[in-house]
Amino acid sequence: MLMDNMNVQPECRGCDHDPSRGLRPAVMGAHEDGIGRRTFLIQSGILTAIAALSACGGLGGGEITAPNVNSTINISDYPALANIGGVAIFTLGSAPLAVVRTAASTFLALSRVCPHQGGTVQRSGNDFVCPVHGATYDLTGQWIGGQRASSLHRYTTTYDASAGTLAIS
Ligand code: FES
Repeated sequence: MLMDNMNVQPECRGCDHDPSRGLRPAVMGAHEDGIGRRTFLIQSGILTAIAALSACGGLGGGEITAPNVNSTINISDYPALANIGGVAIFTLGSAPLAVVRTAASTFLALSRVCPHQGGTVQRSGNDFVCPVHGATYDLTGQWIGGQRASSLHRYTTTYDASAGTLAIS
């Protein structure tokens, strides 16, 4: 009689563990708090999804806004802007910028603050890439891949050809 009692396993309630087959719960701890394995796995999956969404800013975390800029630069100070298609990477005050010469008298000024979580995007080939989670933008600032994010902020530019200056605001 004593030997028989040693083989009896505790009754499982609310789970699909079959003690008569000698199976152990796949997830340790599923029985200890009174929930079944299926419920345990569902709850674990939900918690994992919530953690993942929180990590990527997907639960209503607002995107990072670009810092204000109100400055004028001399184009001649940035040799990369001498030619159409040139890209200058620099910081004005606390604002990391990329200025692209799109035509003889037009420029694009982009914030390099990643809208996702504020990383500073870097030039990579013909793109900009955020080193933090990999969001990728083309040279117009449009998001094109990697971590989902809004496109880079575009500042207003005013080119004064006679003075050779570019106002950025
Ligand atoms: S901060 Fe997350 S991709 Fe830039």
